[in-house]
Amino acid sequence: MIGRLNHVAIAVPDLAKATALYRDTLGAKVSAPQAEPAHGVTVVFIELPNTKIELLEPLGANSPIAKFLEKNGEGGIHHICYEVADILAARDQLKAKGARVLGDGQPKIGAHGKPVLFLHPKDFNGALVEIEQV
Ligand code: CO
Repeated sequence: MIGRLNHVAIAVPDLAKATALYRDTLGAKVSAPQAEPAHGVTVVFIELPNTKIELLEPLGANSPIAKFLEKNGEGGIHHICYEVADILAARDQLKAKGARVLGDGQPKIGAHGKPVLFLHPKDFNGALVEIEQV
């Protein structure tokens, strides 16, 4: 069912510092910061030849990554995103296999303008999984 790795998201306490690390130390191509108020994050996209890295910094009081950063002060891998061809079919198949879909189970439009869902980390080896329809 899952296809390509779309991105790995890393939550960071200091987006400017993390961006400079990827740009200057790792020599990666980085985007300008993009505020995503609907998702409670500011994002920097890092384009790699085969996938993307997204650096996420909390935005606003109810950021979904605030708790994660409380527990992981230096930041850390927050989620991995796999591509699927049909998100509703993928959701139904996952639920039928016992996987928990977070939220109300309805896809939301993600940072790339495409429908996404998140799957419970306890069902996926401790890793928060995002699926994105491409
Ligand atoms: Co993501």
